[in-house]
Amino acid sequence: MPSKSPKESWSSKKSFILAATGAAVGLGNIWKFPYMAGDNGGSAFVIIYLICVVFIGLPIMMAEIILGKCGCKNPIDTMKNLAIEAKATPMWRYTGWIGSLSLLLILSFYSVVSGWSIFYLLKTSVGFFNNKTPYEITEYWNTFLQSPLNLLIWHSLFMFITMYVVAKGVKNGLEKASNILMPALFVVLILLAIYSSATGDSKKALNFLFSFDYHKITPSLIIDALGHAFFTLALGAGCMLVYGAYLPKKVTVSGSVVSIAFLDVMVAFLSGMAIFPLVFKYNLTPQGGPGLMFEVLPITFAQMPFGSIIGTFFFLLLLFAAWTSSISLAEPLVLLLIEKAKISRKISAIIVGCTAWVIGIGSLLSFNLWSDYKLFGKWTIFYINTDLTTNFLLPIGGLLFSVFAGWKLSQIKAREALGFQKEWQYKSWLFLVKYIAPIAIILIIAKAVI
Ligand code: PHE
Repeated sequence: MPSKSPKESWSSKKSFILAATGAAVGLGNIWKFPYMAGDNGGSAFVIIYLICVVFIGLPIMMAEIILGKCGCKNPIDTMKNLAIEAKATPMWRYTGWIGSLSLLLILSFYSVVSGWSIFYLLKTSVGFFNNKTPYEITEYWNTFLQSPLNLLIWHSLFMFITMYVVAKGVKNGLEKASNILMPALFVVLILLAIYSSATGDSKKALNFLFSFDYHKITPSLIIDALGHAFFTLALGAGCMLVYGAYLPKKVTVSGSVVSIAFLDVMVAFLSGMAIFPLVFKYNLTPQGGPGLMFEVLPITFAQMPFGSIIGTFFFLLLLFAAWTSSISLAEPLVLLLIEKAKISRKISAIIVGCTAWVIGIGSLLSFNLWSDYKLFGKWTIFYINTDLTTNFLLPIGGLLFSVFAGWKLSQIKAREALGFQKEWQYKSWLFLVKYIAPIAIILIIAKAVI
């Protein structure tokens, strides 16, 4: 993404798709999807998540991008200017503030989890897991989490490399690299899914992930699925809005959005199929929580031929995907400081990086020294940042974008920016953002809270 001013634009539609896919595909697909599915009993979660992606996520993604395209500024000023233009209250700018808060909280834990991946990359690359039993590997994970200093080192390193790129504004190089590295990640995931299905209990895994059992649907499952759809598509926080702000006038968004969402879901499914066949083979519990990926995949790498090489590639590519996502989390915040506080990109990056780093420390201590500190006796800082932010703040942001695009934005502008080929496609989009998405989000949140 060009770094200086939103007036600069993407060189082409392809670079926009690449960057938006970079924001979407990340830890959410590979690390979070499997454990959310595991915690929520599998298939029921997967189906509800898919429904949320198609009927709520996709239309809101289009809405968020066209708002950026029409406003051409940071999320707060975009919402304010568009509201004034539409003769609505400038209070709409708070949508941008809510989004910024979500981005900051997500960035803080994202860096902690990416730090885990750096550590596991190093361990896998030296063959540390070779010949270890599944029991030893899971025990190792638990011991790792007990060391705050170790977690802090990797969290700091990841935050540094993210903010370095943002401060320097050298993202363009990264986007070029993702031309090769994203497909490579896809290939490695396919290999892992094939290996895991061939050697593990693929029947049980397929059953667990895809055979629909509506008895398992609960309000908390639905809110988890909704939140995950927002998280994985990078929605509701103004990140896609900023990407839309860089879109050249003539490029339309509807087609691109569908391909981004499709790729995103495929990566999550592949990750699920890389993990669950082995979970069932070794009688591990699917409810492994945030550690699931780190407990299961090293077992694969310990056993498969060329395991440490494939494992090293896997963690490298995962880190790359996490890096591009964390840059997209940080970029709108930095842009906001540059435009609002009129300070340099470098200083803005340092402020954002340090703030998220400090909040991240709270998350990493949730696994050891502060594990007993829980809000209302149940929520650790890590949980607040991962689950509550994702499940509530992002959908609320998305709800506001959706309502604004459906009810306030000039429909001539919306129609032009979307660029649907057929009238019924535009009409369906409008119906979804005006009624279905907002009502569904309100009902789901209300049901989860009451
Ligand atoms: N979509 C990213 C992932 O799945 C996370 C993200 C959320 C990135 C919100 C940007 C904004 O890992």
